[in-house]
Amino acid sequence: LPTTLVDTFARRVNYLRLSVTDRCDFRCVYCMSEDMQFAPKAEILSLEELYQIAQAFTELGVGKIRLTGGEPLIRTDIMSLIARIGSLPRLKQLALTTNGSQLARLAPALRAAGVSRVNISLDSLQPRKFRHLTRHGNLDQVLAGIDAAVATGFTGVKINAVILNGRNADETRDLVQFVVDRGIDIAFIEEMPLGQIDEHDRAITFCSNQALQETLSGHFDLQALEGPAGDSGPARYFAVAGTRSRVGFISPHSDNFCHLCNRVRVTVEGRLLLCLGNEHSVDLRAVLRAPDYSPEKLKWAIVEAMAIKPERHNFTPGEQPQILRFMNATGG
Ligand code: GTP
Ligand code: 5AD
Ligand code: SF4
Repeated sequence: LPTTLVDTFARRVNYLRLSVTDRCDFRCVYCMSEDMQFAPKAEILSLEELYQIAQAFTELGVGKIRLTGGEPLIRTDIMSLIARIGSLPRLKQLALTTNGSQLARLAPALRAAGVSRVNISLDSLQPRKFRHLTRHGNLDQVLAGIDAAVATGFTGVKINAVILNGRNADETRDLVQFVVDRGIDIAFIEEMPLGQIDEHDRAITFCSNQALQETLSGHFDLQALEGPAGDSGPARYFAVAGTRSRVGFISPHSDNFCHLCNRVRVTVEGRLLLCLGNEHSVDLRAVLRAPDYSPEKLKWAIVEAMAIKPERHNFTPGEQPQILRFMNATGG
């Protein structure tokens, strides 16, 4: 077995995004339809299986794991899994992407369990708009969660905002001011065409990051940082001069970083996805549940999967879905 993962384009894969549930207490308009169907219990990985996958990846040289969903923090007993993954000897960084709804309660425990970085979705600072965008979310609860995360002293706290024309495109300046006031970072994300959501037309809502960047440059002194910051493959970051904050743009459409891609995803059904914007995948659940399962077989399956990691995604802006799986089933 090799000690590192390298794909056929000589990209080193050292970052796993592990989805621990496809369920969520929100129904963001760009992510889910109101009546989402979730995977049946028997199809989803147990906490033990999720741990085995995390362990296998770290033994193959993956130093960073980000837990995603759905909303990771609503999975039953998730804290026990996080603590176990947090103790894996070869893991360098454990990160979490969350909608923030449970953070006011859990932030200190997450830090104690080994989570160092937390990304929190926040698409609007206006209660009514926030409710419309998330359908079920409560802004005050999320703001309390963000405060708790800031107070807990994570190495990094970042806000994620998906900007949609006609919905929250008028709030980008307020959102940057919000992070500047708290000394944290923000990333603006172009909407990606994952999943068919009938009542939501992405051709109308798609908002290019280039436009945002121009607007924001009129209000803040954005100083380009060299290349993608740290491991943040798809984002381009700017320092807000005179503050501790950085503003990132995740622009799969207008600014493609695929040649630097360092990550793979595992869905909660155990599908190893080699690229967000392609269907190339390997069924790790089948390996885990085979009668002759061994940790070595799991690791070999992961190593062999590198051969099918595609060169780049094939998204086109505003198009109706090229990828039928939803973001919550993909692991953001
Ligand atoms: P880091 O782990 O610090 O790099 O953060 P991140 O911004 O990648 O993670 P986060 O979970 O906050 O994701 C924010 C958005 O970036 C989500 O919508 C992700 O789907 C998107 N994103 C993450 N990785 C990729 C990728 O490989 N390709 C594309 N196109 N988008 C990605
Ligand atoms: N396009 C872009 N980002 C999305 N997210 C969810 N669905 C989409 C989509 N279709 C974002 C969430 C969260 C992050 C993990 O993914 O807002 O911040
Ligand atoms: Fe839930 Fe995140 Fe999807 Fe919103 S974007 S519905 S918070 S998984």
